Amino acid sequence: MYSRIIGTGSYLPEKILTNQDLERIVDTSDEWIHSRTGITQRHIAADDQMASDLALNASKMAMEMANLVADEIDLIIVATTTPDMIFPSTACILQEKLGVKDCPAFDIQAVCSGFVYALAMADMFIRAGKCRNALVVGSEIYSNIVDWNDRSTCVLFGDGAGAVILTKDEQPGILSSHLHANGSYSKALSVPGNISRGKIQGNPYISMEGNTVFKFAVKVLEDVAREAMAENNLQASDIDWLIPHQANIRIIKSTAKKLGIPMEKVVTTVEKHGNTSAASIPLALDIAVRDGRIKSGQLVLLEGIGGGFTWGAVLLRWGDL
Ligand code: ACO
Repeated sequence: MYSRIIGTGSYLPEKILTNQDLERIVDTSDEWIHSRTGITQRHIAADDQMASDLALNASKMAMEMANLVADEIDLIIVATTTPDMIFPSTACILQEKLGVKDCPAFDIQAVCSGFVYALAMADMFIRAGKCRNALVVGSEIYSNIVDWNDRSTCVLFGDGAGAVILTKDEQPGILSSHLHANGSYSKALSVPGNISRGKIQGNPYISMEGNTVFKFAVKVLEDVAREAMAENNLQASDIDWLIPHQANIRIIKSTAKKLGIPMEKVVTTVEKHGNTSAASIPLALDIAVRDGRIKSGQLVLLEGIGGGFTWGAVLLRWGDL
């Protein structure tokens, strides 16, 4: 028993914030942002949009592509660092908005690796015979947790959502998944504050040691890609598409170079989306599926790294939709 993706969807909020717009907010320049990160613009959610609203739009597209109605979904996992509220989970709120009557629904918190974690978990549910059609979503509103006075972080992030439908099949599909975490780096990338006793305690904005993140990301994105290829007796030249987490074009290029995968085989969206955390991989996947780049029979390697640190990869063979 295997699982495979039969539908993808994505959503980007209407408002676009360009590097030029940011020049008017903080002491920065388009040249600095673009040369350091590859980002030229990002999308920003409207004040009345929540992670579940972005997720709803992406999910509807994925369900339409998969030709599934709400009643046929029997698992919902939402990867998000920016949930609508402390509880209930964004997955439960999404379930209600979609009109799915009864199925397990929960959020996963693995920051920018969240989608890879969620996809791996849904695959395990399906292979264990616990569900047939899983909706797996990454949805984020990072504009709510960046400090718009901090030029070292506010230029990096954007809002968006991506979704897939994973279904039971006799053919893979997902070939293997590989998840890791190292909590000793928890301070290198965090939103350390929380809400307790009715008040915000500590810093409610992203705090990041940029250099530590950069070095760690390049190392583990290479390691976990090699781990996935080794488990499946594959070489880098066998991979048709690499879809890495979209944090920074320099991290993506270094990873591809170390792996020996040419950039023509790497899907990148960071230029137009910025870093959308758990949404970045399913967003990039949906774009490459819909523009016809990803074709039936091809090998696709998804990999992410995020706060924690967490990191992971999912290797899959793309099938007919
Ligand atoms: N505009 C202009 N100047 C800036 C800006 C900005 N937006 N931000 C920082 N600077 C300044 C700094 O103050 C510093 O000035 P100084 O030399 O006078 O002190 C100078 O630029 C260089 O700062 P560095 O932090 O050394 O810049 P660096 O070249 O390392 O780039 C960056 C910073 C882009 C954050 C880089 O470290 C990086 O990409 N790290 C990875 C972080 C990442 O991708 N995070 C995303 C979240 S994590 C994830 O998704 C996995």
